[in-house]
Amino acid sequence: MPDPARLGVVGLGYWGPNIARNLNALEGCELAWCCDASQASRERYGPVYPDARFTADFDELLADPDLDAVAITTPVPTHAELATRALEAGKHCFVEKPLAQDAASAERLVAIAGERDLVLMVGHLLCYHPGVRLLSDLISRGELGEVYYLYSQRLNLGKLRADENALWSLGAHDVSVLLELADGQPSEVTARGEAYVREGVEDVVFAYIRFDSGLAAHLHLSWLDPHKERKLTVVGSDRMATLDDMALERKLTIYDKGFDPHADTYGEYITRSGAVVSPAVPNDEPLRLECRHFIDCLSDGDAPRTDGVAGLQVVRVLEALQASLDAGGAPQPVGATSSSA
Ligand SMILES: NC(=O)c1ccc[n+]([C@@H]2O[C@H](COP(=O)([O-])OP(=O)(O)OC[C@H]3O[C@@H](n4cnc5c(N)ncnc54)[C@H](O)[C@@H]3O)[C@@H](O)[C@H]2O)c1
Repeated sequence: MPDPARLGVVGLGYWGPNIARNLNALEGCELAWCCDASQASRERYGPVYPDARFTADFDELLADPDLDAVAITTPVPTHAELATRALEAGKHCFVEKPLAQDAASAERLVAIAGERDLVLMVGHLLCYHPGVRLLSDLISRGELGEVYYLYSQRLNLGKLRADENALWSLGAHDVSVLLELADGQPSEVTARGEAYVREGVEDVVFAYIRFDSGLAAHLHLSWLDPHKERKLTVVGSDRMATLDDMALERKLTIYDKGFDPHADTYGEYITRSGAVVSPAVPNDEPLRLECRHFIDCLSDGDAPRTDGVAGLQVVRVLEALQASLDAGGAPQPVGATSSSA
């Protein structure tokens, strides 16, 4: 990989400019191309990145033999097609979450990247959040004991989307964190949701995800809510923890709470309500860490933390949840991982 790696960003709408800003600021990376179908976007960001070449034509960017990698930050329905073209042109690929709209397309992307030995990374931003990393370490060290269940709230009066519902837009974040924190894979899911503002596009979704191990997760996802909440609660056999991303301090809190067997009475339990501690969570911007990780993977050849396979697993869970939504909340199995993926 040349140093600096030459990158192109495709899609400069709401989110893409954040990726472009971070990539442009990173050592070892040159923002060589910006691509957007909209002339207004190109005119807006042209003066911000005077050294980058701007185009409306994705093929023009792919034809540059010196371009090493592409970051795809276009709407979700375009991800699979644009990522396929980028990988087939021999470019390493960062794709915003979720990787694709269906598991079959995500599987194909994983296969193409594997065949061509290209890095495929999905922008599951929260997996790079220092608070999630701390929580993940706590869980893997066994400090919470056995994780029984967890639940998350991702609520806001937020961006009203037409091309994806609250499950795919917001749930992609929580499912990626859930799969990172939990042992094993989910086996069955249930989801109910309602579309109040735009017909056919659910604004609020309640999702239930169950693992074979018995671990369960509940997600409350909504962009139609008076509260801005991004909170995850994990209940373990020994301790419990919350990660509150809206809190300015004490983002991560660990509660020494639970039930202990009563020493004198067989089969009786007493509640334990001990210390409550909040380890400091580093203030590093998750998006910067995510972009840094992509560039490091390009130069080291390592598989990203959120590689294509991780992205595929998220899509499988979302697809099963969508099937449950469509079936009025009927439980659905989660597709298995094929050996190639
Ligand atoms: N990680 C996060 O927290 C986060 C937050 C918001 C959005 N996202 C993700 O970012 C992606 C983009 O979302 P958004 O809200 O910025 O969408 P958006 O609609 O605001 O912007 C998309 C841009 O892509 C351009 N575009 C579309 N098709 C194109 C094509 N074929 N070639 C070139 N340009 C094209 C459009 O002109 C537009 O400027 C989505 O995958 C979304 O899930 C991630």
